[in-house]
Amino acid sequence: MPATSVIGLQWGDEAKGKVVDLLTEQHEIVVRYQGGANAGHTVVANGQTYKLSLIPSGIFRPEVRCVVAAGVVIHPATLLAEVENLKSRGVYVGSNLMVSERAHVIFPWHIEEDRLFNDACTGGEAIGTTLRGIGPCYRDKAGRSFAIRLGDLYRPGIADRIAQVAEFKRKTLAGLGAHEAAASLDPDGIYKEYAGYAERLQPFVGDTTDFLLDACENEKRILLEGAQGALLDIDHGTFPFVTASNSSGVGVSSGSGVPGRYVTKVIGVVKAYSTRVGGGPFPTEQDNETGQHIRQRGNEYGTVTRRPRRCGWFDAVAVRYTTRLSGVDALAVMLLDVLSELPELRICVAYEWKGKTTTRFPAHVDELREVQPVYETLPGWQQEISHVRRVRDLPLSARAYLDRIASLVGRPIEIVSVGPDREQTIFAGQ
Ligand code: GDP
Ligand code: IMO
Ligand code: MG
Repeated sequence: MPATSVIGLQWGDEAKGKVVDLLTEQHEIVVRYQGGANAGHTVVANGQTYKLSLIPSGIFRPEVRCVVAAGVVIHPATLLAEVENLKSRGVYVGSNLMVSERAHVIFPWHIEEDRLFNDACTGGEAIGTTLRGIGPCYRDKAGRSFAIRLGDLYRPGIADRIAQVAEFKRKTLAGLGAHEAAASLDPDGIYKEYAGYAERLQPFVGDTTDFLLDACENEKRILLEGAQGALLDIDHGTFPFVTASNSSGVGVSSGSGVPGRYVTKVIGVVKAYSTRVGGGPFPTEQDNETGQHIRQRGNEYGTVTRRPRRCGWFDAVAVRYTTRLSGVDALAVMLLDVLSELPELRICVAYEWKGKTTTRFPAHVDELREVQPVYETLPGWQQEISHVRRVRDLPLSARAYLDRIASLVGRPIEIVSVGPDREQTIFAGQ
C-alpha cells in the first residue's frame, strides 16, 4: 500500500492534526518527520481536546505505530511531558511510539540563541519564532561541530561532549553580551538533566529509517504528518520569515527517509481563509473588523505560544503555488464554519505588481510586500453550518465558495471541515 502525506499549504495551523487523526483509521504507521515543538497540532476526540507538539496525531489509535523520524528536532523534556500527559489522560503510549536515534536534540543553548537572534539582523521586523530553539538546533545540525543527536546520548564520552559544546556556547553567548544566558548554562547540570531524559526515552529510541524502509517494502500503509505549512518552508517559503526545515511536500523524503516513489498521495490542508503567526508579509491580511471576526470565531490564537494569529482572506495565488510545490492531489478545506455570518467573502485570485497582473507567487519577500491582491467577491452565508455532514446540505453560497477555491487551485476538495470534532467533517461525494 502506498504512503500518503498531509501537508499544510499556508503558514501553518491549517488543522493538519484533525486531518491526520481522521486518516489514521486507514493507516498502520503515522510519521512526524520535520520541525519540532514549534508545532502544535490539535486533535478533538471523544469530547477531549489534545494538543500535540512532537508526538504524531495518530497516537489515539493504539494499534497504529507512531514514528518521530530523523528530520525532527527533539526537546526531550517536551516529548516526555507529552508522553506523561497523554498517559495521564488514558491514552496508551508505549511500544506504539518510536523515536529516531538520528533526530537532533535541542539543548538550553538553542533556546537562548533563539531569544537572542529572533529579531537580530532581519531588517527591523522580527521573524517572530516560537522561541523553542528550532532554528539554532537545525543550524548546529547543518554546522555539525556542535550537533548532538538522540543516539549520541547513549554513547560513551557524551558527558565530555556536552561539557565541550556547553563551554563553547557559553563563550559565544558571553561574547555577544548575553551574560545572563551564558551564566545559565551549567555544563554538569545540563549533562545530568539530559542523562535523565535519555534514560526515560530509551524504550522509544530506535532506527526509524530502517523501520520505515522495511515498512515501505512490505507495503504497509504509512501516513506522513507535515508540520508548519509550505509557505514556511526554508527553501521555498517566504524567506527569511520561515521555519528552519522543509515544511512543504518536498521535505517528506529527507525528513522521514521514505523515498519519494512510495508517496503516492498528497493531501494539501488549507483553512477556508488565511492566518499567519509571527513576522513577514501577508498580502491578504485583514487588520480590521473582518480579521477580528475570523480571529474570534476561529479562536485564532497560537496553539504553542497563544499569540493572536494574523487573519485574512483566502489567497489562491499562494495556495496554487504551494499545491504545485507539494505535489498535492486533493485538498482538505478546514474551518469553513468560521466564515458564517460574514456578508460577503473575498478570494485573492491574482496579484498586481508594478502595474501588471500576475498569478506567480514571488520568490522574494520584498516583492511579496509590494503586491496588491486582486480580489473576487462572493456572497457569504448567514446560517451556522457546524452540523452539516453532506456537501449538498451546505448553503449554496458555501458550495460556490468551495467550488471557486477548487477551480482556482486546480485540485478537487476531498474533505471539508465544519468544526474541530472528528464528526464535524464532510467527505466529498457525500
Ligand atoms: P495544525 O497545527 O495544523 O494541526 O492546526 P492547529 O491545531 O494549530 O489549529 C487548528 C485549530 O482549529 C485547532 O484549535 C482545531 O481544534 C481547530 N479546528 C480544526 N478544524 C476546525 C473546523 O473545521 N472548524 C473550527 N471552528 N475549528 C477547527
Ligand atoms: P504547526 O505545525 C504556525 C512560525 C512561527 C514563526 C516562524 C519561525 O502547528 O502548523 P520557528 O519557531 O519555527 O523558528 O518560527 O514559523 N511557525 C508556525 N506557525 N504553525 C506552526 O506549526 C508553526 N511553527 C513555526 O510563528 O513565524
Ligand atoms: Mg498548529
